[in-house]
Amino acid sequence: MDKLIITGGTPLNGEIRISGSKNSGLPILAATLLANGPMYLNNLPHLNDITTMLSLLRCMGVGITIDEHMGVEIDSGSINDFAAPYDLVKTMRASILVLGPLLTRFGKADVSFPGGCAIGSRPVDIHLRGLEAMGATIEVDGGYIRARAPNGLKGAHFFMDIVTVGGTENLLMAAVLAKGKTVLENAAREPEIVDLANCLVRMGAQIEGIGTDSLTIYGVERLQGCTYSVMPDRIETGTYLTAAAATRGRVRLRDTASGILDAVLLKLEEAGAHISTGTDWIELDMKGNRPKSVNIRTAPYPAFPTDMQAQFTAMNTVAEGTGAVIETIFENRLIQVHELNRMGANITLEGNTAIIKGVPRLKGAPVMASDLRASASLVIAGMVADGETLIDRIYHIDRGYECIEEKLQILGANIQRIAGK
Ligand code: UD1
Repeated sequence: MDKLIITGGTPLNGEIRISGSKNSGLPILAATLLANGPMYLNNLPHLNDITTMLSLLRCMGVGITIDEHMGVEIDSGSINDFAAPYDLVKTMRASILVLGPLLTRFGKADVSFPGGCAIGSRPVDIHLRGLEAMGATIEVDGGYIRARAPNGLKGAHFFMDIVTVGGTENLLMAAVLAKGKTVLENAAREPEIVDLANCLVRMGAQIEGIGTDSLTIYGVERLQGCTYSVMPDRIETGTYLTAAAATRGRVRLRDTASGILDAVLLKLEEAGAHISTGTDWIELDMKGNRPKSVNIRTAPYPAFPTDMQAQFTAMNTVAEGTGAVIETIFENRLIQVHELNRMGANITLEGNTAIIKGVPRLKGAPVMASDLRASASLVIAGMVADGETLIDRIYHIDRGYECIEEKLQILGANIQRIAGK
């Protein structure tokens, strides 16, 4: 298994490009199952999760061609299997996103039941109840969700008990080809859902209320293929900005968007960062100063994203003062705290709250990555620690950060990948 070795102490300084969004690319890849005719996708990030989704489509018989600029042509016309097997779903829970598109277009889908993961139990009950409200019959058998709708789905009025990103995406994709009108209430409104909805509209879907918590969808007979460019990754953007703030550095990020991470930018300013933005770039400058502690509470968009919580926890470990971090979305998402404490951080856990007393410096140590964003927090911690930090199990980080060590090297960090067996 590959490892990362980091020698801390250098402020990040320089300019890099932000990749396309993983969390928007995954549902858009699932949406290609809805198109009559080829889809051309640009700006997909080169990540393990994206490769897993492409493998899933390929194993269903979908035709996939990748060009020299990483543009991907996907044609679902040759599909001959309607199943997402355990081996793929267990490596990537987002495989569940093929359920809605398969069911609404082909009337059947067998998707392995996604289990829990390091950050919590993560049920999919709302996805299933929404599809049942649209007329699907669903059985769970042999670890598989077996969903059937031989005569197609029909529109429904559905209220989601919990704001769920994946649930909203699955039901939105199911509704675009259902007969009649669907209303999804208490829908998630993350920018990635807006990106998916915009792509569906380009394919010919009729959707009202995009970007709000109430989506109205008028089902159409068929959707056509289109060309679509995936939005920039706001979590990758936020991660590099937070890393720069923690290391007292200055970075300029290109090919990103500032309007989709207001909550994060405001917190970085509260931490003492000077931020300037243009239409497709963001610059952060700490002017050499130590960050100040900030309090954060995660909640659905537009509030502070759970996917940025671990990185802010890492920044708070070396900030001036004491910060409280409250995680409200996932039950076990403060797992990075124990590894950070092994590096000399002063964090106490009280239920879903981490109280972080800033210390002047951390001390490098061997640590273990446990999930995607927790790994990013360990990378940040390694860059503000004295001496060497060795991060094991970095396959978690490769799921969500394209070329992380190359990008950090461009910014001046002392970070190397050690290839393992
Ligand atoms: C997506 C993101 C993930 C992010 C999360 C929250 C992708 C590929 N992943 O995950 O990076 O951290 O949104 O912003 O886009 N829940 C239920 N029943 C359901 C569905 C969800 O109880 O049927 C609960 C979950 O356990 C969790 C909460 O709702 O506590 C939010 O989960 P959800 O928004 O669905 O997360 P994902 O779509 O899995």
